[in-house]
Amino acid sequence: MSDSATLRFNNKETQLPVLTGSEGERGINIEKLRSQTGLITYDDGFGNTGSCASAITFIDGERGILRYRGYPIEELAEKSSFIEVAWLLIHGELPTEAQLRGFSGLLTEFQVLHEDMKYHFEGFPPNAHPMAILSSMINASGCYVRELTGPYDPRKFERHSARLISQVRTIAAFAYRKSRGLPIIYPKPEYKYTANFLHMMFSMPYADLDLDAAAVEALDQIFLLHADHEQNCSTSTVRMVASSRANLFASTAAGVCALWGPLHGGANQAVLEMLEKIRAAGDDGSRFIEAAKSGDGSHRLMGFGHRVYKNYDPRARIIRERCEAVLARIHRSDPLLDIAKKLEETALKDDYFLQRKLYPNVDFYSGIIMRALNIPVEMFTVMFAIGRMPGWIANFREVMDDPKGKIYRPRQIYTGSTERHYIPLGERK
Ligand code: ACO
Repeated sequence: MSDSATLRFNNKETQLPVLTGSEGERGINIEKLRSQTGLITYDDGFGNTGSCASAITFIDGERGILRYRGYPIEELAEKSSFIEVAWLLIHGELPTEAQLRGFSGLLTEFQVLHEDMKYHFEGFPPNAHPMAILSSMINASGCYVRELTGPYDPRKFERHSARLISQVRTIAAFAYRKSRGLPIIYPKPEYKYTANFLHMMFSMPYADLDLDAAAVEALDQIFLLHADHEQNCSTSTVRMVASSRANLFASTAAGVCALWGPLHGGANQAVLEMLEKIRAAGDDGSRFIEAAKSGDGSHRLMGFGHRVYKNYDPRARIIRERCEAVLARIHRSDPLLDIAKKLEETALKDDYFLQRKLYPNVDFYSGIIMRALNIPVEMFTVMFAIGRMPGWIANFREVMDDPKGKIYRPRQIYTGSTERHYIPLGERK
């Protein structure tokens, strides 16, 4: 197999080295392309561009494979927890007992926000979107860590990353309470990560939430399944900002903004809205499937299809399996689950979906679980952000630890006006 590719342009041949990843994927290294040929590459949407080399997450979209640091997502979902996976992503190995204990200790140490942060929360209008609050408050909470403003210090990284993972959950819960005009509930050190989050979301000053182990486990799984997904839009944003040497809190706050968009983190909300519409129309899903095949985009089957997965999204398979179990264990049934199952069953037998390799993605069932846990729809993307935080942090670290440490600065094909000259205001037509 050749380890270089030949580019022929203007009768000149240029050899470009071919890199091979640890799972055999190959990419043409074009680092010297411009200096040797004067050309740049053009790849609208970056569908063919490897923006970095990374050792964190592996996806094979054709075969429906997702692994964190080499471990299959199915094994982690069955045997691990969100916090253990967070450590794995950030540090590259599963933690020892002592490391996990130390990490949990840091999460507890940092779970309470600086009391002055309350004033920041008070500054938001009553119906502020929780994602706006989340991104602003992550940046604000970074202001309380003085050493963050100095150069990146790997010795402090463990504390900073634990602080961020712990506080994003506190901020998220406070953002929800604020958006509903509810009193803020402080975390409890005796609760583990996900239980503490549910407590801060749903307890009242006069009555603690009766924590249901099944609900805690289900939400922990949702966080774990969202913990990383290689170079998606928000992770690429985090890496881009980090490459300028911005601090961890600023870089991940930018990631929250990128995740907010409906084409990225907002799809789980769209799935639920679609299922509600189908139910309200008295459809069992079959009419909607026919409309989704029209191709005009007005009735896309939300939660189906993925830019990378051309097979069943492995996270969707896990969530689907858990969905019914969770609803049964927390003694709920949901007619939307029946509609979702019917949609899936019909779509997976239909040539339109089979030919285009459209399978359920992670969002197809996750909204149903979150709805069962009473998580309001406007918080769905926030749940995604809490889950994705370890992945963002791991990617931030990879950028900072890269000895080449280059700022990310793509080029462009300029299509605007060629040179022209300023016309004074009075002479313009
Ligand atoms: N329902 C119906 N048809 C679809 C769907 C769908 N959900 N998704 C793709 N198609 C069709 C397109 O109409 C197109 O058909 P054509 O070849 O006849 O023109 C073909 O499948 C390819 O579609 P593209 O949009 O080119 O595929 P792309 O890879 O760019 O898009 C995307 C992937 C955006 C996820 C798309 O499948 C989609 O819109 N799905 C619904 C939204 C969704 O669930 N997003 C969540 C993604 S997962 C995540 O972000 C965490």
